[in-house]
Amino acid sequence: MMFRGGPISVAEYMEEVLTNPQSGFYINRDVFGAGGDFITSPDVSQMFGEMVGVWTMCLWEQMGQPGNVNLVELGPGRGTLMADLLRGSSKFSNFSKSLNIHMVECSPALQKVQYSALKCVEATNDDSSTGTISTLSGNPISWHASLEQVPNGLPTIIIAHEFYDALPVHQFQKTSKGWCEKMIDVSEDSLFRFVLSPHPTPARLYLTKCLQWASPEEVENLNHIEICIKSMELTHQVAKRISTDGGGALIVDYGKDGLISDSLQAIRKHKFVDILDNPGSADLSAYVDFASIRHSAEEISDNISVHGPMTQSQFLGSLGINFRVEALLQNCTEEQAESLRTGYWRLVGDGEAPFWEGPDELTPIGMGTRYLAMAIVNKNQGVPIPFE
Ligand SMILES: C[S@@+](CC[C@H](N)C(=O)[O-])C[C@H]1O[C@@H](n2cnc3c(N)ncnc32)[C@H](O)[C@@H]1O
Repeated sequence: MMFRGGPISVAEYMEEVLTNPQSGFYINRDVFGAGGDFITSPDVSQMFGEMVGVWTMCLWEQMGQPGNVNLVELGPGRGTLMADLLRGSSKFSNFSKSLNIHMVECSPALQKVQYSALKCVEATNDDSSTGTISTLSGNPISWHASLEQVPNGLPTIIIAHEFYDALPVHQFQKTSKGWCEKMIDVSEDSLFRFVLSPHPTPARLYLTKCLQWASPEEVENLNHIEICIKSMELTHQVAKRISTDGGGALIVDYGKDGLISDSLQAIRKHKFVDILDNPGSADLSAYVDFASIRHSAEEISDNISVHGPMTQSQFLGSLGINFRVEALLQNCTEEQAESLRTGYWRLVGDGEAPFWEGPDELTPIGMGTRYLAMAIVNKNQGVPIPFE
């Protein structure tokens, strides 16, 4: 943990806890799946990656079927989504052949997991240079620590599933002196504790911006607000790239179409734990403010349009997940059928109505309404499905 002799912002704490090169939560291990700390939609069912593949192919059609496209995934976790997308779309050879895949991943351990999920090998190109290809689809694959490192110049499709929620948030509290930023300090008995900054902090400028985007009624009822400067900056980069290179981005995450109050949470081994307890051993994540993503994209270019958010349930339903589950059920064992049905309902089920008595406190909750989908596209592409 960095130490500079004074309190640090919640965002600095979150960034250190998740991505510190030595001891960050994501850096050294596989944190996903039943044996890890949490489960994501691609782990729940292959249908999630397949449906994202359908969305990607449709956008590619709307882009005029370019022969060479950058397909970028931000924070690919175990690589399951990309593997299901490539497998599911491999029959559509013109689409499949056009893809240059770029994985944006900060964790060396997860890069290795992704390399094997995509069944990668090292291959020699026609010009005798070597590169990595996925034997699932024959596409070239490369890894990058950030979106900026992905080469420009080709039409680009960007997928960000559960990436924005891992970006560090600043927290503010309403006081008699106005909005004060919450900081993290070390107490006399060497424990972390929250304190309020007595002075305006640099993040205050961004809070002012978010407050201007919101309606007075929305702000009036809030005593706490979280803002994510990294999300606004990332959205600027995404929108700029789509504006100049063409294409679009799909963002799927849990969150809300408006200001977020106090959502930062820590999860270790499928249980909620204290945010300040044993930093680096639990995942920290926060709800995504989709309204701030929309405004950030729109302020950077007139050449892009933003669509949604809509619920994951609407998104997957409109893309045809019902037909896909029916088709898969035609040809499977009873055990596979059970897992397909459970997976289907977890992806599209209502977050308010737990429907499955799982072994822990998180698995019973359906993801269909808690997760939202939003698209940012170059205006030349028209309105992407299923946001028409
Ligand atoms: C919650 S996981 C999402 C995993 C995956 N998209 C899925 O659906 O299973 C967040 C992913 O983003 C990566 N990540 C987090 N912060 C990052 C950053 N600042 N730069 C690059 N990758 C990051 C993590 O290592 C992890 O792969």
